[in-house]
Amino acid sequence: MGRLEAYPTLLQTNHLGQANPVAKKTHVSTTVNNEPAEFLCEPRESLLEVLRDTLKLTGAKEGCNNGNCGACTVLLNDVPVNSCLVLGVEAEGASIETVEGMACEGHLHPLQQCFLEGAALQCGICTPGFLVTAKALLDKNPTPSEHDIRFNLANNLCRCTGYDKIVKAVQEAAKELAAK
Ligand code: FES
Ligand code: FES
Repeated sequence: MGRLEAYPTLLQTNHLGQANPVAKKTHVSTTVNNEPAEFLCEPRESLLEVLRDTLKLTGAKEGCNNGNCGACTVLLNDVPVNSCLVLGVEAEGASIETVEGMACEGHLHPLQQCFLEGAALQCGICTPGFLVTAKALLDKNPTPSEHDIRFNLANNLCRCTGYDKIVKAVQEAAKELAAK
């Protein structure tokens, strides 16, 4: 991904295409997946909206939009956050990592590979959130216990898998990363 520049409109327009002088946008400079990124957003816009609608990074999903499901999880300065509850303007000067940044040089991250091989996803809506949350855990704690994994993934809900395969996939990825 090259330098991201997203300037959709300086003034928001109404449904008739008329400029709304009240809708002021703020210029935000940030880093997304280790690339500089700039965008304009209204103070009310969430980071999830900015990522998906402005920067066209649709990996983070909108599930509940109120902080309950974790489908929108991204890393903000290496910490998992519900991007539906973070304002876009809060990304100023921060480092953001999304699921799109996990694969490296054409190779899936071991977590992605283990999720695939271990059938740790079905519909996939929850998967980006689980992946980035698990990555933050393994970056911090390369040898987590099963309790550590379940505790750290507690904010991420999955309606399909029953969680066991997800936990197993994280354990397998931890082994792979340790062997590297
Ligand atoms: S969409 Fe953000 S927590 Fe559910
Ligand atoms: S795979 Fe469907 S919600 Fe988790």
